[in-house]
Amino acid sequence: MTRPRFSRKPALVRLLSVAALFSIILIAIQSSFFTGSWTPVNLDIPILSHFQSNLQQCVANRGLGLTAHIIDHCNVILKFPQGTNSTWYNEQFKIFEPLEYKYDVCEAILLWEQYRNMTTVLTREYLDSRPDGWFDYAAKRIAQLGADKCYNQTLCEEHLNLTLPAKPPFHPRQFRRCAVVGNSGDLLKTQFGEEIDSHDAVIRDNEAPVNEKYAKHVGLKRDFRLVVRGAAGNMIKILNGSDDEVLIIKSVIHRDFNAMIKKIRNPVYLFQGIVLRRGAKGTGMKSIELALSMCDIVDIYGFTVDPGYTEWTRYFSTPRKGHNPLQGRAYYQLLECLGVIRIHSPMRAKRKKDWSDVPSREMINNAHRAALRLKKKQAGQEGGLGQFVNCKVWGKSGPYGNGPVSGSTDMTDTRKDSNYNRWEIMPFESLRKEARKHYMQMEGVSLYKMDGNKLDDLVCVKHPLKSEA
Ligand SMILES: *[C@@H]1O[C@H](CO)[C@@H](O)[C@H](O)[C@H]1NC(C)=O
Ligand SMILES: *[C@@H]1O[C@H](CO)[C@@H](O)[C@H](O)[C@H]1NC(C)=O
Ligand SMILES: *[C@@H]1O[C@H](CO)[C@@H](O)[C@H](O)[C@H]1NC(C)=O
Ligand SMILES: *[C@@H]1O[C@H](CO)[C@@H](O)[C@H](O)[C@H]1NC(C)=O
Ligand SMILES: *[C@@H]1O[C@H](CO)[C@@H](O)[C@H](O)[C@H]1NC(C)=O
Repeated sequence: MTRPRFSRKPALVRLLSVAALFSIILIAIQSSFFTGSWTPVNLDIPILSHFQSNLQQCVANRGLGLTAHIIDHCNVILKFPQGTNSTWYNEQFKIFEPLEYKYDVCEAILLWEQYRNMTTVLTREYLDSRPDGWFDYAAKRIAQLGADKCYNQTLCEEHLNLTLPAKPPFHPRQFRRCAVVGNSGDLLKTQFGEEIDSHDAVIRDNEAPVNEKYAKHVGLKRDFRLVVRGAAGNMIKILNGSDDEVLIIKSVIHRDFNAMIKKIRNPVYLFQGIVLRRGAKGTGMKSIELALSMCDIVDIYGFTVDPGYTEWTRYFSTPRKGHNPLQGRAYYQLLECLGVIRIHSPMRAKRKKDWSDVPSREMINNAHRAALRLKKKQAGQEGGLGQFVNCKVWGKSGPYGNGPVSGSTDMTDTRKDSNYNRWEIMPFESLRKEARKHYMQMEGVSLYKMDGNKLDDLVCVKHPLKSEA
């Protein structure tokens, strides 16, 4: 009986709060005209709170039962409905999967916005620039080296030479729309094949087959494939004659892998930014990181994101034991409502493709700036919030460094008969306009992660601006 009143009230409150926020922003814009700079003393929290309520609405609309509960301007809890079947038993902690997940939205915005400007391929310039890059880090990317450091750099170079370009082969904003295709058995319930193929680039995972048999479910287009160690043996069969697909190894290189690489024409690189610990969870996350480092829009297919999951399935093999579906589902929903990815799944397939409740680019930019200022203020660091704020180490190469990158500038010698050139010597002028613009805005600087998911320890390498080159 009282229902209608309840539902009208929040709408009115929301309207008023939007109006209030709008007027605060107007005042701030006006005052910034007088001071000549953007001085939003107490604006960050209202901006973030507004972003939070948008997120809450988005989760309610798109989350298939998930709800977002706001704790403060940064923290939020995503909850599954009472009675959700949590059948995944965690041996380590002796519990079933929880039905609640807490997130720091401010941190999440900072992290995922940073990915849009990152380089996620390991290069020579990175190893040259990073402190002990060759001695220490290179050794971590080689299996069966027989030592935990590169005491003999020549030996390490021999291992890495087939997969180590001098500078980044791919660029932020290189593609507009990318599809990241997971391996979930759910893919067989839909026919996303054509839709997947309509993307500018398609990123697949490990041994996922691409052929006529599955075409209507997963498409045929192949551009990138993230692979782990063990996959080397199978790879030639999986590639099945497709020699343009770029392989990106997200673990370590070793002798067997190199032997395989020598036999194929495909470009092969190492992923930069993996967490160098065992049992790192979320393999799908790496594909999303790779996609964000090259694409404006990231559509995901074949991830475990619908309710009612009882076993881990893959579209091309029998089910097996897997990891936390609820945790994954909550996190992917968060990412969608942060404007990072767009989720496609059987239960969403019939929806109208409407992304109006996902935050706009402008809204994300505002929230990002607010989160960054707030973080710096809390850390007692004011000012200097430019795009290089997280650069801890600057590269030695480039015009301001000590000299050129080690080795030769392209891989035509090391991989004479492969398709490396397709990406590596692409002229600047043939890059997408947005990618060129970004390159100029970043003053030719490439950003790399040091390790893991820490944000404020990037390795930054400056390249000559192309007009000067
Ligand atoms: C370093 O490795 C290279 C290549 O395997 C080898 O030829 C050379 O003898 C090694 N140097 C030393 C000092 O062990
Ligand atoms: C390899 O590709 C051909 C067509 O190009 C297809 O008929 C065949 O099924 C594929 N094999 C595998 C193992 O995917
Ligand atoms: C929960 O999942 C288990 C295991 O698949 C199943 O046996 C059980 O019937 C499910 N319960 C509900 C309420 O769906
Ligand atoms: C590795 O390749 C570079 C060219 O990129 C070359 O200069 C270097 O000599 C090679 N090193 C070894 C050990 O083969
Ligand atoms: C990312 O790059 C854009 C330029 O394309 C820049 O305006 C922005 O500040 C950068 N953001 C981060 C987090 O590095």
